Amino acid sequence: MDPYKYRPSSAYNSAHFTTNTGAPVWNNNASLTVGSRGPILLEDYHLVEKLAQFDRERIPERVVHARGASAKGFFEVTHDVSHLTCADFLRAPGVQTPVIVRFSTVIHERGSPETLRDPRGFAVKFYTREGNFDMVGNNFPVFFVRDGMKFPDMVHALKPNPRTHIQENWRIMDFFSHHPESLHMFTFLLDDIGIPLNYRHMEGFGVHTFTLVNRAGKCSYVKFHWKPTCGVKSLLEEQAVIVGGSNHSHATQDLQDSIAAGNYPEWKLFIQTMEIKNENNYDFDPLDVTKTWPEDLFPLQPVGRLVLNKNIDNFFAENEQLAFCPALVVPGVYYTDDKLLQTRIFSYADTQRHRLGPNYLLLPANAPKCAHHNNHHEGFMNFTHRDEEVNYFPSRFDPCRHAERVPIPSHPLGGRREKVMIEKENNFAQPGARFRSWPAERQERFIARVVDALSDPRVTHEIRSIWLSYWSQADRMLGQKIATKLNVKANM
Ligand code: HEM
Repeated sequence: MDPYKYRPSSAYNSAHFTTNTGAPVWNNNASLTVGSRGPILLEDYHLVEKLAQFDRERIPERVVHARGASAKGFFEVTHDVSHLTCADFLRAPGVQTPVIVRFSTVIHERGSPETLRDPRGFAVKFYTREGNFDMVGNNFPVFFVRDGMKFPDMVHALKPNPRTHIQENWRIMDFFSHHPESLHMFTFLLDDIGIPLNYRHMEGFGVHTFTLVNRAGKCSYVKFHWKPTCGVKSLLEEQAVIVGGSNHSHATQDLQDSIAAGNYPEWKLFIQTMEIKNENNYDFDPLDVTKTWPEDLFPLQPVGRLVLNKNIDNFFAENEQLAFCPALVVPGVYYTDDKLLQTRIFSYADTQRHRLGPNYLLLPANAPKCAHHNNHHEGFMNFTHRDEEVNYFPSRFDPCRHAERVPIPSHPLGGRREKVMIEKENNFAQPGARFRSWPAERQERFIARVVDALSDPRVTHEIRSIWLSYWSQADRMLGQKIATKLNVKANM
């Protein structure tokens, strides 16, 4: 074996205990003391190293989506979409790409129950031949707010009260009473699908509108949808209490167990596409993340399937150290001007540099599986071994050249500097239509959850009236029913 080639790895485990640097440890039971009763000698290097490592075992948990489960597998193209995109991993039916997926809840801590009413994260890292593509989505097709400026405040309102460390409805109802654009998201969160049965039985969505670019440079807007082949199943409140009461990691367990049993979770990937030249033809803004695209106008087109057939080997390395970022796209997939997406392009790499350090992309779960090269190097915890003498560009000594140019959206950008809302807010039509599409019992359960949130004694009359006005604008009957249950007058 080449002694310089291998980093520490369990493949090279020694038969006896050693220190981190490989020195034999002849007693891992007792500290080195003066006599049998102590005191302990500081020169017990092994003891000091062991404690110091233990003291530093935890890294900061994710500020959101701290609780998660991951698994590995592959994505396989089943339908030809090469007319829409030049993405290499989508080049032809039959092409497979390795993936790692992380499912998560959003608000609560790393060890919190997986039965709480909360959106679920659905993040897929495709290790393509042209670099990693991260589709960092959720299990609902829309989001609470449409401007990233609001995201930190939104998360603060949803997280526990900083004084009590308890999640409190009055804070949530207060914050969102300023944001009618959140109504649509609440028709998902407070619906029966607000607590997925587990991670296998939920849908996933890219949520934002992205751009597909084909070889000729033609761009189309696109939305991504994951549909589980085993169907969507959820827990009602009483069921969630029972499931969560007996196992607060039931969804992680379910994922692990199904993969171990060979019952591989599978999702089909569909896209909706829109001609960019038609983007102004609708009563909603297609880049507004609080809107869905009606499926009768934009039918779901099948693309491929995602199969999770391998459990992770190590939770820390493949879950805690796993780092997603919506900025990671590949040639043939591009962003749009969606303001929330634009903010996310900045925020994720920023948080990873804090949470995992500047070299987080060298960690095995995050590193590309394809060849890569640049002169970004060194820094804390850099563990690559480089032997080049030229670490600058351009150089006549370095044969590395620019990659071939790939097409990107080329339409002109222009406008005044502004800090404003989008023009077509249209906050009420889609939530109202969604509510009306449900059978009566589902509507009643939804109403009961809205009423429960608004019944928090610290929700003021003013806040309640605002919410009644919002729900009434979505659907008059919905507003009236909520008002009746709250024993107040609907003001619309
Ligand atoms: C401007 C708005 C947003 C900001 C600033 C933001 C920020 C963050 C941050 C800081 C993390 C933690 C990342 C980490 O430490 O690994 C995170 C995780 C995550 N976010 Fe967002 N987020 C935003 C909106 C969204 C939206 C709209 C979605 C869904 C489409 C989403 C889905 C996720 C998912 C799935 C994760 C967990 C990734 C994982 O499993 O590691 N976020 N977000």
